[in-house]
Amino acid sequence: MRWKPVICWLNLVFAMNVLIIGDNKILAMDRACAVLSTGQLIALPTETVYGLAADATNGEAVARIFEVKGRPRFNPLICHMSSIEMARRYVHFDEMALRLAEIFWPGPLTLVLPLKPDSPIHPLTSAGLETLAVRVPTGFARELIARYDHPLAAPSANTSGKVSPTTAAHVAADLGEKVQLILDGGPASIGLESTIVKMTNGSLELLRPGGLASEDIEQAMGVTLRRRTGTAPIIEAPGMLRSHYAPSAPLQMNAQFAEPGDAVIRFAGQEVPGDAQAAIILDLSPTGNLREAAANLFDYIKCADAATDRHIRVAPIAPTGLGEAINDRLERAAAPRP
Ligand code: TXA
Ligand code: MG
Repeated sequence: MRWKPVICWLNLVFAMNVLIIGDNKILAMDRACAVLSTGQLIALPTETVYGLAADATNGEAVARIFEVKGRPRFNPLICHMSSIEMARRYVHFDEMALRLAEIFWPGPLTLVLPLKPDSPIHPLTSAGLETLAVRVPTGFARELIARYDHPLAAPSANTSGKVSPTTAAHVAADLGEKVQLILDGGPASIGLESTIVKMTNGSLELLRPGGLASEDIEQAMGVTLRRRTGTAPIIEAPGMLRSHYAPSAPLQMNAQFAEPGDAVIRFAGQEVPGDAQAAIILDLSPTGNLREAAANLFDYIKCADAATDRHIRVAPIAPTGLGEAINDRLERAAAPRP
């Protein structure tokens, strides 16, 4: 069976506050800097997902992020920097952290590092913790931060608990006029949030699998990452709540069957038995490419959710490489709601 690629209606939503970066990079950066310096919010493209950004040193601006997202206050935010040098103004790097940063920045890796005591980062950004999550994104975001010369606190640009946005249209559909300026840099190339690693006593702990495969980190560093087991809530990364990416329709992963009217998400051309009468069939990557699957994941969950009142059934995806993070997000999307 063949089906045409689906243009999700969510992608057709336009808003007045959206600015397409395209050839207008300097204009876009100037407008973004002006908005940020008055304590307002911007939504900006990064290689992972779109971020809802504020000046990380401005408490009122950071508070606005929590307000707009409806996010619990105790949840600390990632601070985006333009370079290792900039990050060093705010956090301590040990030898291992520095090596990691040199290898993987700019890129989809967040390091949780000790905050310097005299750091001007507003405590609301770090939720009062003595550590700060930092990363250097690629492309436009990085250039903007270098120009603005202050770190940007930026969680994903979505209402708390919803799927992360990978296009400006997703942001506009969800947050609309609550954000002063939405910068449109096209679809996020990775489509999954960054991998979060914490350094404790010289060893590395994986707090969140993400857009950088943990095997790549292990290989580069010659170590094994510690992983947390069990279902106890992770106090240090409260964004890791089990039901974090909840669509409205119940989602089943590793689906072995589908019923008429369900939305089906395939992988590698793999049919889900019974999906001939599905309301919609999407394939994360017909060729079985995990990178492509990661980039499509959140958009397809949204499209599937919009297409069915019944279940979203997702075909099995091997948990290797980026498959680890993809399965992690699917588990959260499938988890019982609080
Ligand atoms: O790719 C990404 O990481 C995106 C883009 C915009 O950069 N950002 C993102 O941020 O996913 P957010 O806020 O949705 O997720 C940040 C995660 C949360 O789970 C939070 O609890 C954790 O990072 N986190 C932040 N600071 C932390 C800290 N000091 N210690 C441990 N976890 C921390
Ligand atoms: Mg998020």
